[in-house]
Amino acid sequence: MQQADWIIENVNLATMQNNGEPFGKIENALLAVHNKRITWLGKRDQAPVFNNANRVDGHNGWLTPGFIDCHTHLVYAGHRADEFEQRLQGISYAEIAQHGGGINNTVTATRKASSDILKRDALSRLRQLCKEGVTTVEIKSGYGLDLDTELRMLEVAKSLQDQIQVKVQTTYLGAHAIPLEYKEHADDYIDFICEQVLPQIARKKLADAVDVFCEDIGFNLQQCEKVYQSASDLGFRVKGHVEQLSHQGGATLIAKYNGLSADHLEFIRIEEIKMLKQNNVVAVLLPAAFYYLNEPQKPPIKAMRNAKLAMAVATDCNPGSAPMASLLLAMNQACVLFGLTPEESMLGVTRHAAQALALNQCKGILKSGYDADLVLWDIAHPNQLSYSINMHSPRDIWVGGQHV
Ligand code: NIG
Ligand code: FE
Repeated sequence: MQQADWIIENVNLATMQNNGEPFGKIENALLAVHNKRITWLGKRDQAPVFNNANRVDGHNGWLTPGFIDCHTHLVYAGHRADEFEQRLQGISYAEIAQHGGGINNTVTATRKASSDILKRDALSRLRQLCKEGVTTVEIKSGYGLDLDTELRMLEVAKSLQDQIQVKVQTTYLGAHAIPLEYKEHADDYIDFICEQVLPQIARKKLADAVDVFCEDIGFNLQQCEKVYQSASDLGFRVKGHVEQLSHQGGATLIAKYNGLSADHLEFIRIEEIKMLKQNNVVAVLLPAAFYYLNEPQKPPIKAMRNAKLAMAVATDCNPGSAPMASLLLAMNQACVLFGLTPEESMLGVTRHAAQALALNQCKGILKSGYDADLVLWDIAHPNQLSYSINMHSPRDIWVGGQHV
């Protein structure tokens, strides 16, 4: 006899483990939860006896790991619908940024906003994500750029998990844009990040990782390396917005610093992919930004697949390049726009997303000992989640074994 707080039966599992089956599936299964963790899973007819466990009927649906959105900018003020209109008129994202708009537009609004307002707006976007089965979310700073607002953004991001059942991982993205007060003095801003902001964020334990925007309209390779060096010295893992609008060499830099993930990657060169693989760097694909910016070039998915590179999929939810709070839609976009298979897109929001956040020892797959972050879907097959738009919402969600 085994101990369990509750068990779910009459259910099929998309474990997302590598068990030789697509989606790591186990049909006619049973899964048991004890002390917030999965304690047993397998075929129903091979299950041990669970005395005193509550029984949940899975209605012959599919249970998946809780989804993980591993790249978002959820905390910000205002919107940029006016820039969206300008882009529809043919003005590019880069041109808007070069004229002081873009990220700096949102920086102005975010600096002015109170923490209460930032929290209210972020919470409403987060609720949309969670309704679709997201149980872990990464949230970046990067719309404050000054010390006070960056700290506030990270505090607000962390505080969201007191309001709603979700795990929040935070990332410091000070090197997102050159703030207007440092115009023409980007190197001084990088020094400010390394000498003044990073040590405080480390001391206050406000971030789990450090990110940069390596691009003509962001920061150059030398500047990004300076941030990575300081971040690594303080014990942070790094990641980056790299090779999105042009090739800069940022992905190779991330590999050199043993980073968690390289994100966007439309312009990565084929020969650079093996560097990511060798250093266990996850490729985070952000099809919503590709879609909104009408980008000319797709990430080289076939080469990534051939290299067996872990590919994650995220919303990139932000007011400029991806005003979208739907991870299911990002999965669909990853298939339609980039050519991922439905299984790859689901691995992208589960197992590989967990790896991008260094949570792969506790989240992202259904496995004994792992956190009981679970989503039950009324579907006949897990490939339906990538196939249809707005046709499926979870029947039930559990975070750490607790029903939400
Ligand atoms: O992931 N590339 C830089 N950062 C965001 C966009 C931020 C913005 O436009 O506000 C991105 O695309
Ligand atoms: Fe982003």
